[in-house]
Amino acid sequence: MIKDLRVYSVYNSKGKHALRVKIQTGSGFYTASIPSGTSKGKNEAKDIPMKNVIEIFPKVRGNIIGLDESDWITADEIIEQIDPSKDYRNIGISLALGISLAIAKASTNNELWRLRGAKTTYRFPFPLGNVIGGGEHGGKTAWQEFLILPHKAKNPIEATSINYEVWNIVGEELKKRKLLLGRNIENAWSSSLDDLKTLDFLSAIAEDFNVKLGIDFAASSFWNGKTYVYKGLKKELTPEKQIDAVEHVANVYDLYFLEDPLHEEDFEGFAELNRRLHGRLIVGDDLYCTNTERVARGILSKSTNSAIIKPNQFGTLFQVSKVIRAMKKVGMVPVVSHRSGETEDDWLSDLALAWGAPMIKIGNLGPDIPKHNRLIEIWHDIHEKQMASLP
Ligand code: PGA
Ligand code: ZN
Repeated sequence: MIKDLRVYSVYNSKGKHALRVKIQTGSGFYTASIPSGTSKGKNEAKDIPMKNVIEIFPKVRGNIIGLDESDWITADEIIEQIDPSKDYRNIGISLALGISLAIAKASTNNELWRLRGAKTTYRFPFPLGNVIGGGEHGGKTAWQEFLILPHKAKNPIEATSINYEVWNIVGEELKKRKLLLGRNIENAWSSSLDDLKTLDFLSAIAEDFNVKLGIDFAASSFWNGKTYVYKGLKKELTPEKQIDAVEHVANVYDLYFLEDPLHEEDFEGFAELNRRLHGRLIVGDDLYCTNTERVARGILSKSTNSAIIKPNQFGTLFQVSKVIRAMKKVGMVPVVSHRSGETEDDWLSDLALAWGAPMIKIGNLGPDIPKHNRLIEIWHDIHEKQMASLP
């Protein structure tokens, strides 16, 4: 039985407020900390300031104390009843998800990956790592993240090591060529290269390693309502030209993963790209915001074949599990993802495994070390395991 519930204002990797939740049960204490984004989608669940959390907290606490922690689904239903707004505007997504995760951790004795119950073989996700960054995360490019995927790694130890090695060489090489500006909030390098030169540079290095390339364009961040604005390239592209440009770079650089190549309301444009780039992953992040209704719309319009899953864009664990089930039914690939303002909590790694996501988008070490280390730890704890099969 849940005996106590407490909340704390702690720090995230950007030095900003993050919410930590702690519950006490008959068997101990369980905590969960919630990250936050920088280039947020406009359809994400709402968060509220800490002073408002403190105001609403006694009522929430009264409803949670006394619940049975082993029944995490009922607990999540009660959270929905406390705030029936759907976007958590009353209690804030951090409090809702924090309570949900802390209870799920209690119900699994801090081994959240067991949520899915006994399975014969567990499939470990490949880390998709941000090597060079731009956009709202800091850097010269309009595109936000230049990503690598160590698709031949035999285990999480090797996967992390490959991503780190590529990240390291990229940094050294940028420095040698006097192109290095620093590191951005996700521990990705920022350089003075423009978007296309960054791709040239990274793909030359990637050739020496067994990594696939991806980009998170985060296109809403350089969409002005009419055109896509490339400040570095001194160019503006109409939506049609943006589709042509994305198709071109995907083919020339053999991009495996293309996240948010168009702005967050362009379901039809995504569908066009998905059709033209058959065989590559077209991924919706801001497009869906992990939201059931938006994902359902994307399925109907065949906008993408993959979606980013960021639990704090949408809701409790139970709600997010339902989105993943709906996606899997139609073969849409779930990619679980960190946020750019992270905490030391490692629940994302457990959930990637529990949900059977073939990829987990986490930084190359830096603030995301705990997530890498957690995957390594679980790899050693589980007997029947293998790396995920990638689409
Ligand atoms: P975030 O977004 O900065 O909102 O976490 C990262 C991303 O767009 O994937
Ligand atoms: Zn994104």
